[in-house]
Amino acid sequence: MAWLSCLTILVLSSVVKCQEWDPTAPPVGHFTVSDAQNNTCLLMTVGMTFHVPYVKNDSNNTEAVASYPLPANADVTGTCKDTAASITLSWGDGFNVTVKFERNDTVFYASEIITGYVLNHDIFPDCNDDGETRVQSGPPHDIHAMPGRSYLCDVAVNVTVGNVSVTFSDLQVQPFLVKGGNFSKVEECAADMSTTTPSAHTIPVKTTAHPGPIPVPKPTQNNYTLTDSRGNVCFMALMAAQIQVNYTRTTGKTALAVWNVPKNTAASGTCGNDTASLQLMLDGGLTNLTIVFVSTKGLDDLAGVDTDSGFKASEMILEYMETEARFPDSVNNGTSQTVERKNLTAFPGSTGMSYKCNSRQAVELNDDVTLRFEEVQLQPFQVKGGHFDPVEECAADKQTTPEPTNTTTLMTTMATVPTPRPVHDPSILNFTLTDDDDKICFMALMGLQIEVNYTTQHKEKATARWNVPKGKSVNVTGECSNTTTTLTLIFDGGLSVVTMTFKNQSGKGGTVNKFMVSDINFRYVKDKAHFPDVQPAELDVPVNVSKHNLTVFKGELGFSYRCNVGANITLNQNVTLRAINVHVEPFGLKNSKFDQAEVCEADNKVTTLRPIIVGCAIAGIDVLMLLYYGIGRRMRRNKDTR
Ligand SMILES: *[C@@H]1O[C@H](CO)[C@@H](O)[C@H](O)[C@H]1NC(C)=O
Ligand SMILES: *[C@@H]1O[C@H](CO)[C@@H](O)[C@H](O)[C@H]1NC(C)=O
Ligand SMILES: *[C@@H]1O[C@H](CO)[C@@H](O)[C@H](O)[C@H]1NC(C)=O
Ligand SMILES: *[C@@H]1O[C@H](CO)[C@@H](O)[C@H](O)[C@H]1NC(C)=O
Ligand SMILES: *[C@@H]1O[C@H](CO)[C@@H](O)[C@H](O)[C@H]1NC(C)=O
Ligand SMILES: *[C@@H]1O[C@H](CO)[C@@H](O)[C@H](O)[C@H]1NC(C)=O
Ligand SMILES: *[C@@H]1O[C@H](CO)[C@@H](O)[C@H](O)[C@H]1NC(C)=O
Ligand SMILES: *[C@@H]1O[C@H](CO)[C@@H](O)[C@H](O)[C@H]1NC(C)=O
Ligand SMILES: *[C@@H]1O[C@H](CO)[C@@H](O)[C@H](O)[C@H]1NC(C)=O
Ligand SMILES: *[C@@H]1O[C@H](CO)[C@@H](O)[C@H](O)[C@H]1NC(C)=O
Ligand SMILES: *[C@@H]1O[C@H](CO)[C@@H](O)[C@H](O)[C@H]1NC(C)=O
Ligand SMILES: *[C@@H]1O[C@H](CO)[C@@H](O)[C@H](O)[C@H]1NC(C)=O
Repeated sequence: MAWLSCLTILVLSSVVKCQEWDPTAPPVGHFTVSDAQNNTCLLMTVGMTFHVPYVKNDSNNTEAVASYPLPANADVTGTCKDTAASITLSWGDGFNVTVKFERNDTVFYASEIITGYVLNHDIFPDCNDDGETRVQSGPPHDIHAMPGRSYLCDVAVNVTVGNVSVTFSDLQVQPFLVKGGNFSKVEECAADMSTTTPSAHTIPVKTTAHPGPIPVPKPTQNNYTLTDSRGNVCFMALMAAQIQVNYTRTTGKTALAVWNVPKNTAASGTCGNDTASLQLMLDGGLTNLTIVFVSTKGLDDLAGVDTDSGFKASEMILEYMETEARFPDSVNNGTSQTVERKNLTAFPGSTGMSYKCNSRQAVELNDDVTLRFEEVQLQPFQVKGGHFDPVEECAADKQTTPEPTNTTTLMTTMATVPTPRPVHDPSILNFTLTDDDDKICFMALMGLQIEVNYTTQHKEKATARWNVPKGKSVNVTGECSNTTTTLTLIFDGGLSVVTMTFKNQSGKGGTVNKFMVSDINFRYVKDKAHFPDVQPAELDVPVNVSKHNLTVFKGELGFSYRCNVGANITLNQNVTLRAINVHVEPFGLKNSKFDQAEVCEADNKVTTLRPIIVGCAIAGIDVLMLLYYGIGRRMRRNKDTR
């Protein structure tokens, strides 16, 4: 419909970005296509290696594979239209590769890859068909992103183009809506990027797509004071604070959101003789941070600090909204989260002194949420005349006299006071559903835990936490169809009911072949067993919570989806479903067995791999994964140290 926008082309630059030292990695080239007005309309940064099988001209007609890279100074041509674009890179005498793109309003994708080559003796030693040219074209590569964004994939991925295998690496591409000649906002590749090509469906060589620090400026030091009812200053603090949150994207990948407590943030809170709280509201209430200080007189302090008379921050509570701007592609888009850590020993000081620590300190609220503080000076109690008492320096500052602000000090004292989960991890349950012919049509393994925040009769915040139990006390029902599979778990004697709806997304435009949990419904009752001190008015009230348009456990049809790390699925502000050790295949089961597993990205992080006893096959895959990971890491390090 829209031919309006421009035609063609002609091309320009091909600038060498940087030559990788790693001999196995191809050079990375930066290629651009410009339109008739000389505006850059397509950008591609990529390294490619071609692996081409051919037959040797010997008595046995031996098969061989020639490998050659895409030169970073290849010639570029291309076309940019409103909904279709292409780029052709040519080099040598008759070598080329073309990537075609298409788009609609919501997505762009690579629609075809074509490569041409000449069987010459330099690249194909002893080849049989000297001088012949060949053209191979292949299925679409799973490159896709929103129009107006760029697609980024640092991971090396093999793509089958006819009988040629092309390894893409360090890829960033934007074929549409290029502004000012630069890449727009990035969409990272999904871990399942390579799944359209069976040859590359090995466990992805996992490197972090975005290593290195996120360019968030250093937080600024703010001045927070609280006054009592008579207008006297009763609490004083200077501090710079930064918030870091790991979150899961709809692609299954983990991303990091980092933001600062901005300059001139106003403080509110309360002062007391034994407790004081500092409350910071940022971004108009999208983020709230509360730090509770207690006087440690008489407290049994596990950290071994002199506690006879002093103070510490004992509790930190972070509330934040997962906005699209700060948490792009979050599976929990639009929901607000509360993370709380109690029994902390942060900023430990002595009575009659102010606590000072320029060094950076990290306080982990949980595995995913960390607060970082620096340039701290504070006095939460017994402030006299609006002035800090004499300074007591933290240990980290004393150790690093030359450049104190550079040091990162982990609060080791805090590591010794872990907040245990009141409930043990859930048992791994095994669910199957059968179809009308009694054939198994759905299989899942997972452990499920429920967390519900509520207010006690003492107006305190509390969390009820319980597991879906093992054994016969769970009634499993459900239904399979080609498009939708539902799984219903009834437990707690019928009081709790979880329903998960899996959706098969195939058939939409032909390029989508995913499944996922799209809807979850959870019904529970605020009974005495799980909510011991619930407000009387709430007791035994049934609650129904539903969440739609989810993209949880998103996997590729024809494979099973496995994620040991699992997911915290936020159903609303108060209700979270925590799933661990997930292995699921909701459609297309053959022979009552899981197909090859697609492993979620979080599991590919070696640090989070926990020893889990599963079947031999899976254990084997784990070993492979570790091996691949090792290789990936080594390559990455070579690159980084070039
Ligand atoms: C486009 O850029 C090229 C090279 O930079 C230049 O030679 C040409 O005159 C420009 N054309 C227009 C229409 O600006
Ligand atoms: C061809 O095959 C034979 C028997 O397998 C072997 O002895 C010979 O070395 C091969 N020749 C070449 C050139 O590979
Ligand atoms: C690519 O190379 C092949 C083989 O040399 C040739 O036949 C084909 O025309 C080339 N394609 C383009 C778009 O240059
Ligand atoms: C891609 O294929 C080549 C040749 O088949 C192989 O050497 C390489 O390890 C593969 N890379 C990945 C990432 O699978
Ligand atoms: C902090 O603010 C208070 C009140 O505005 C002021 O009296 C004090 O001097 C400030 N302290 C610093 C170190 O800026
Ligand atoms: C705090 O301490 C002062 C002096 O010891 C005392 O007068 C006051 O009542 C105390 N306030 C509270 C809320 O305990
Ligand atoms: C932060 O606090 C304000 C005021 O209490 C509240 O309206 C807002 O919802 C809170 N924000 C979050 C993310 O919980
Ligand atoms: C994310 O949530 C916000 C607010 O709920 C909504 O406006 C936006 O469309 C959502 N974005 C996506 C990609 O779902
Ligand atoms: C944390 O504090 C609460 C209340 O102060 C106490 O009951 C609990 O035992 C403490 N937990 C640890 C691990 O110290
Ligand atoms: C995010 O996750 C990584 C890997 O698990 C971990 O090293 C890092 O500390 C986490 N960041 C935060 C802010 O929790
Ligand atoms: C401290 O940071 C400065 C700049 O921020 C840097 O130049 C210096 O090398 C760092 N020092 C150390 C010991 O890392
Ligand atoms: C764009 O194409 C994708 C995949 O083909 C499809 O899922 C989506 O609905 C399309 N969007 C529009 C607005 O047509």
